[in-house]
Amino acid sequence: MKAAIRNEYCTPDQLEIGRIALPRPGDDEILVKVKATTVNRTDCGVLTGKPWAIRLFTGLFKPVRPITGTDFAGIVVDKGNNVDQFQIGDHAYGFFDQGLSSHAEYLAVSTKKAVLRKPENVTFEQAAASLEGAHYAFYFLKDLKLNAGDRILINGGTGAIGNAALQLLKHINVRVTVTCETEFIEVLKSQGAERVIDYQKEDFTTINDQFDHIFDAVGKSSFGKCKPLLKSKGIYISSELGKNWQNPVLALLSPFMPGKKVKFPFPYSIKRSMKFIDELVVNEGFTPLIDRRYRLEDIEKAYEYVLSGQKKGNVVLAFD
Ligand SMILES: NC(=O)c1ccc[n+]([C@@H]2O[C@H](COP(=O)([O-])OP(=O)(O)OC[C@H]3O[C@@H](n4cnc5c(N)ncnc54)[C@H](OP(=O)(O)O)[C@@H]3O)[C@@H](O)[C@H]2O)c1
Repeated sequence: MKAAIRNEYCTPDQLEIGRIALPRPGDDEILVKVKATTVNRTDCGVLTGKPWAIRLFTGLFKPVRPITGTDFAGIVVDKGNNVDQFQIGDHAYGFFDQGLSSHAEYLAVSTKKAVLRKPENVTFEQAAASLEGAHYAFYFLKDLKLNAGDRILINGGTGAIGNAALQLLKHINVRVTVTCETEFIEVLKSQGAERVIDYQKEDFTTINDQFDHIFDAVGKSSFGKCKPLLKSKGIYISSELGKNWQNPVLALLSPFMPGKKVKFPFPYSIKRSMKFIDELVVNEGFTPLIDRRYRLEDIEKAYEYVLSGQKKGNVVLAFD
């Protein structure tokens, strides 16, 4: 089979499309013919080994998995002796942030991981694109104890995480103000945003408004700059560590600080977030934003585009 392979942490141009033997499913595994996968920001971390902390999970000195890829949607073509929940021919999808070797024509994946039957009402591409961003959005928002009518500002509504967050918040009637570039204003309004700020024309930190919470989904702001926009017990969350790791540090200090706080949630059980997302997808409550599509052979270009920080939602690698 063809797969995107590297043996060291590297840049996209060092990733090679090679031919290797088809994996054989272990007792708890299914063999999946991949129909779609994405190239996402987690993949960029797994490819490059940056930020360094990611190596604690993906291999300290070199990647444990030579094949890249963290999510997939495809068809079960073989299974191990202990697998009851999938039959050959079933459509499956799944995600694992430390790597699934899914940038390949086939993958063998344990059914003990976050792997579910693909909802019938979405395509393989939509299923694969429903996972990474929505998983992080789920965990970044989970601790906010939101109520209908609360107001939240999301910085970066066209990112995979920010766009998923906007859609998740719509379901609990939270009032969302979101930032994006001019071209996407109407798209985000149609997805439920109450107010859209064109970040190329206006700096959101200078607007005359206040929010219960601020979620910087692209990690481009700071607590200090956003503080005036937060109500007295408001919470600031960023998807990035911030300058000098200030966001996790401030989150650790938060219990000792009165008033406005920083939280830095750690996503943990992917099975839990995926179950939540799966139910939303089945009930047509979540439609991932899909940007460009690439072939496996063009994966270098896909990674470069994702690393440019300009993707709108998700970048898909489509097979066939
Ligand atoms: N903490 C974690 O566990 C974790 C996990 C995964 C990802 N991350 C981080 O989370 C961040 C978001 O990931 P993602 O995949 O959602 O991002 P993404 O899809 O790569 O985000 C890119 C999008 O953000 C928009 N954008 C960039 N700068 C902006 C700004 N200043 N204001 C408004 N929009 C802006 C871009 O629009 P334009 O093209 O118009 O600029 C583009 O559409 C990344 O920094 C990633 O490294 C953290």
